[in-house]
Amino acid sequence: MPDLSVQLAPKHQRGLLLKNPVLTASGTFGYGLEYAELFDIQRLGAIVCKGTTLYPRPGNPQPRLAETPAGVLNSIGLQNIGVEALVKEIAPVWAGWKVPVIVNIAGETIGEYAQLASRLEGVPGVAALEVNISCPNVAAGGLEFGTSPRLAAEVIAAVKVVTSLPVMVKLSPNVADIAEIGVAVAEAGADALTAINTLKGMAIDLKRRRPLLGNRYGGLSGPAIKPVALYMVYELAGAVDIPVIGCGGIASAEDALEFIMAGAGAVQVGSAGFANPEAALEVLAGIEAFVEREGVRSLSDLVGVARR
Ligand SMILES: Cc1cc2nc3c(=O)[nH]c(=O)nc-3n(C[C@H](O)[C@H](O)[C@H](O)COP(=O)(O)O)c2cc1C
Repeated sequence: MPDLSVQLAPKHQRGLLLKNPVLTASGTFGYGLEYAELFDIQRLGAIVCKGTTLYPRPGNPQPRLAETPAGVLNSIGLQNIGVEALVKEIAPVWAGWKVPVIVNIAGETIGEYAQLASRLEGVPGVAALEVNISCPNVAAGGLEFGTSPRLAAEVIAAVKVVTSLPVMVKLSPNVADIAEIGVAVAEAGADALTAINTLKGMAIDLKRRRPLLGNRYGGLSGPAIKPVALYMVYELAGAVDIPVIGCGGIASAEDALEFIMAGAGAVQVGSAGFANPEAALEVLAGIEAFVEREGVRSLSDLVGVARR
């Protein structure tokens, strides 16, 4: 059997070694609990849980989802149970799992990100953090942290000081130059980058003559964003020397392999799981079949081959 294992935090003291490169994307797989009853989630490389904030959040007004010809628009608004409930009720379940769980965190101030990271420090069941920087910075009039290299780096530096866990940074595609942001957070100590989060988008309800989503605009995901995500992963892989995790429109092993050849060390499956909850496992099975068929000894031999 070829070696599919990946080290997602090579510069980190403990590292983050996964048995395979297929993860679930934040916000599309809940806390993994419901899926654990549907199929063997322990076979996944890792699970990234839904975005977690310091306090519980009810999320945005309905409607919060709209279908588009090649993707989904969502404006969930980070609805979640808050970090206390996560630590007390969910993490103990994860602690009994073989599959590592990565907690995605979101804050409105740099202090909130740091508080979240400290609260998760030493909690059994939490393998790493994924920092979502596509969040409005309340102290700077709502400018998203992820759109400014300086602010993004400040968030990551503040998180790194208080955590001993590997830190992945989830990048926003809604920027002029993603490599600039990637380099800034890598210099601030990021162990890996996840690219990309959703692209800003909207839809209009013709009957009501109003924006369709309760929050007016939302984030686009699914097949429509795959070429954008692939391009950004390619750009990032050429700009940083930490692993890049590809995310955006991945629904098949072929999609995943494109990301890997573009330079991604691992992939996340998001919206594809809505239509097919087992999508991530099918992506994994397809990667396994490809490497065996092609006589690839180690997945690492494929990472970035399209760049040479
Ligand atoms: C309903 C929904 C909720 C999401 N919630 C989060 C979240 O809480 N935190 C985050 O970093 N990304 C979140 N995302 C973004 C996904 O993790 C992923 O980056 C994006 O959907 C692109 O991947 P995909 O095309 O495979 O879905 C969410 C996406 C969707 C569709």
